[in-house]
Amino acid sequence: QTEIYGKGVLQGIRPSVTTDPRLLEEQARKALGERSFNYVAGGAGEKATMDSNRSAFRAWKLIPRMLRSMDDQDVSVELFGQKYDNPLIMAPIGVQGIFHEDKETGLAEVCQEVGVPYVMSTAATSTIEEVAAASKHGKRWYQLYWPRDNDITLSLLNRAKANGFSVLVVTLDTWSLAWRPADLDNAYVPFLSGVGCQVGFSDPVFREKFEKEAGCTIEEDILGASRAWLYQIAASGPHTWEELAFLRQHWDGPIVLKGIQHVEDAKKAVEYGCDGVVVSNHGGRQLDGAIGSLDVLPEIVDAVGDRITVLFDSGVRTGVDVIKALALGAKAVLVGRPVIFGFGIDGRNGAKHVLKGLLADFWMSIGLAGIGTVTNCDRSVIRRVQHAG
Ligand code: FNR
Repeated sequence: QTEIYGKGVLQGIRPSVTTDPRLLEEQARKALGERSFNYVAGGAGEKATMDSNRSAFRAWKLIPRMLRSMDDQDVSVELFGQKYDNPLIMAPIGVQGIFHEDKETGLAEVCQEVGVPYVMSTAATSTIEEVAAASKHGKRWYQLYWPRDNDITLSLLNRAKANGFSVLVVTLDTWSLAWRPADLDNAYVPFLSGVGCQVGFSDPVFREKFEKEAGCTIEEDILGASRAWLYQIAASGPHTWEELAFLRQHWDGPIVLKGIQHVEDAKKAVEYGCDGVVVSNHGGRQLDGAIGSLDVLPEIVDAVGDRITVLFDSGVRTGVDVIKALALGAKAVLVGRPVIFGFGIDGRNGAKHVLKGLLADFWMSIGLAGIGTVTNCDRSVIRRVQHAG
């Protein structure tokens, strides 16, 4: 906060990336190529789910309190027995190399520097080992796109564990590609040329299986290998609740299910021994016409919040959005596109600016609202207000 005001307003130095969340996307559009911009900015169908994510936030209003000491302002949280300096988490985002050459290793390094956990995607353009080496002291979580083949799954879990990834985030809402008009019009699935397959191509088990089946090396048939990897992680149909036992058996750390929207699924997550859920609709990229993610958060927190850790994402753009999600019961919040917009505009620097800006905005706003700490951030600070039209 002091740094951003100190350099900017007080010294007249303009940041390379806008601090206005509404302008950020436009700035990214100019900086990125058409295909990669549409890939990050796009959504399913007519983007109705994306719109609902934002209108859900707008329907909730904070009710600030005055004359409260902020001497003890503190936004640290505890998640799965670990202390975190703030309740912000970098959402898993695939193919970061298409947005900037700093790729996953660069963004993981930034997250380490600003004190935000980095959730590494299975669809990365860097390997698990490279990300771990780039952020040795950072908090690292691993997001699993759950392969169809158990041997490959096991190999990924072992690599994540061996490289110090502490939490397993299992994404459930991407068992098929989604209807994303912008990507369809651009004939663009980054994976289909090897981009985003680094985790797979560097995996000894995937490699061996592919080579045996195809009768050639991955390098000799990149397109075939990319298709085989894409099939494993995103196109082979849904797993089932019963299959979670396999992950539970082979991962001894916390398991978090990402993509939960229905209260009954949240209850099943408890029943099947999971440690947390991310209430998320994948930022409106999978199913169009779905309910805004924030709109289902309170009922899920009421049903399971005392038994497992409820995290949230989809539509977070400002510090106040973070406060609203916490007030409705989320223990921490993942943010996706804004950081990638900053990253696309100016690599590490751009991502750092967006993340630091979001943290500063959150810190200022939770103070100005008279809340001050995450524990004080409950439903008494917020009200749903609906205006006609
Ligand atoms: C994603 N998301 C995602 N989620 C995941 O579990 N694994 C992944 O590889 C990706 N990849 C990905 C790529 C891009 C370009 C975007 C924009 C999103 C979803 C992501 O983790 C998160 O759920 C949403 O981005 C949250 O919504 P906002 O903050 O972007 O509105």
